[in-house]
Amino acid sequence: MKKSRTVRMPSATSVVARSHPDHIIGIENELPWRLKTDLRRFKQLTEGNAIIMGRKTYESIGRPLPNRINIVLSRTPVEDTASVKWAHNPETALLLADYYSILLERKEFFLIGGEEIYKLFHKFINVVYLTEVFCGNINGDAKFDFEFDRREWRYYSEEDFPKSDDDEFAFRTTCLVRRKSLHRFRTKEEFMGRDDTLEKIWERYAAMMEKLDDENPVKQEQLDIFGNDVTPAH
Ligand SMILES: NC(=O)c1ccc[n+]([C@@H]2O[C@H](COP(=O)([O-])OP(=O)(O)OC[C@H]3O[C@@H](n4cnc5c(N)ncnc54)[C@H](OP(=O)(O)O)[C@@H]3O)[C@@H](O)[C@H]2O)c1
Repeated sequence: MKKSRTVRMPSATSVVARSHPDHIIGIENELPWRLKTDLRRFKQLTEGNAIIMGRKTYESIGRPLPNRINIVLSRTPVEDTASVKWAHNPETALLLADYYSILLERKEFFLIGGEEIYKLFHKFINVVYLTEVFCGNINGDAKFDFEFDRREWRYYSEEDFPKSDDDEFAFRTTCLVRRKSLHRFRTKEEFMGRDDTLEKIWERYAAMMEKLDDENPVKQEQLDIFGNDVTPAH
């Protein structure tokens, strides 16, 4: 039997706000600042997509984020609803993110924190929406302590925002894009197993990704995440 073509799986993007220069992202399970403009930006970026978060971040937000599939990573069960999905390990979180991204015809899903989740998936992300908050030295117990070498990452659309009534501190937003993107490629059978009810969804997603690859033929590498064996790219 002829083997199906491989298709690029959805890509992982992190969204994070950290203090400059200490890279603090949280204190006692809360955000250390009030930045309404940045929260609006976060909403715009992530709405309509699957998002992965740690149990502590989920508790800190206190409710599922609307218009998103909330995938919550925890070793103990989290109640599943239409928009909240429990993942008991990172592999399941990834599987759910792939499944819902494909269902929603989205080429990326978002890692929204906190520290443990950013660390787990860091080697796997292709894009980071980074907000640097100019709040000086502050205390914190969660960090996003990664450096982005310009030889490996392109810096895009840097924008500065002043302190205002809406925003407690001045901040800068930057979009970082990995120069040589990392991807997982799967055949239809690998994705669907025997479940042919997903056939139409898969075909729509495959057509969308192939169009994207044709329009933007950037150099890509097959990605091996969590030591899984992966299909060679094309
Ligand atoms: N500034 C920002 O952009 C930003 C964004 C998000 C969060 N934050 C802040 O970050 C802080 C929270 O970060 P955090 O690192 O403490 O917690 P977290 O990453 O939100 O959640 C950690 C939890 O995730 C689960 N987990 C981690 N690895 C796992 C694995 N391999 N398998 C299964 N479950 C796993 C565990 O849940 P169980 O203990 O239930 O097993 C763990 O306790 C808060 O202060 C929050 O406000 C800041």
